[in-house]
Amino acid sequence: MAKVRFLGHAAFYLEGRGIRALVDPFLTGNPQAPVGPSYFRELDYLFVTHGHGDHLGDAVEIGRRTGATAVAVFELANYLQSRGLKVHSMHVGGRYRFPFGSVKVTPALHGSGIIEGSEIIYGGNPCGFVIEVEGKKLYFAGDTGLSAEMGLLQHEPVEVAFLPIGGNYVMDVKDAAIAVDLIKPRVVVPFHYNTWPVIEAKPQEFVSLVGDRAKVVVLAPGEEMEV
Ligand code: NI
Ligand code: MN
Repeated sequence: MAKVRFLGHAAFYLEGRGIRALVDPFLTGNPQAPVGPSYFRELDYLFVTHGHGDHLGDAVEIGRRTGATAVAVFELANYLQSRGLKVHSMHVGGRYRFPFGSVKVTPALHGSGIIEGSEIIYGGNPCGFVIEVEGKKLYFAGDTGLSAEMGLLQHEPVEVAFLPIGGNYVMDVKDAAIAVDLIKPRVVVPFHYNTWPVIEAKPQEFVSLVGDRAKVVVLAPGEEMEV
């Protein structure tokens, strides 16, 4: 059975047949992170949804040290490669069959600038990922507003949807509940809330808005679930 551990904010560790991966490995400076980047010694993949610091996070350090392959859209993959990482570049709408299963890159309504000093480096389109592990499809939405394109995901279909609910930069609980209607996952896990005051949200409000349309699993930072 595959498992997913929530590392706080937007970071997840995913382990299943043929895959040990981090999604948006923001650990250093993440007030919710239960472990630091050095905790991860053996890793196959790093999935990075966009270039903002609270997602790109420790990707460069972890990738260099573990030799994990970073999966990202072309522009961000190019940036990561220039920083010494092994990469697999993809783009929005594309699907590729990895040894562990398929990965599809999904659109996200957001930005993806990489801040370095006073510079902003173009990171390409922000995205989400549908990652197939042990035959089940997990949708990591990344940072995104509510979009009609999410309705196309019901054709995957998605077993577990990881959705941001903190508002301000991303969907709030109300929009995330509408996203559940569009995606029709069996299980939904909220993230990207309560890390900082500007993204305060009540996960229990999300639970009641979703009702019986999906099973909502609220993971505390450090907690893991089987998928
Ligand atoms: Ni962002
Ligand atoms: Mn973010």
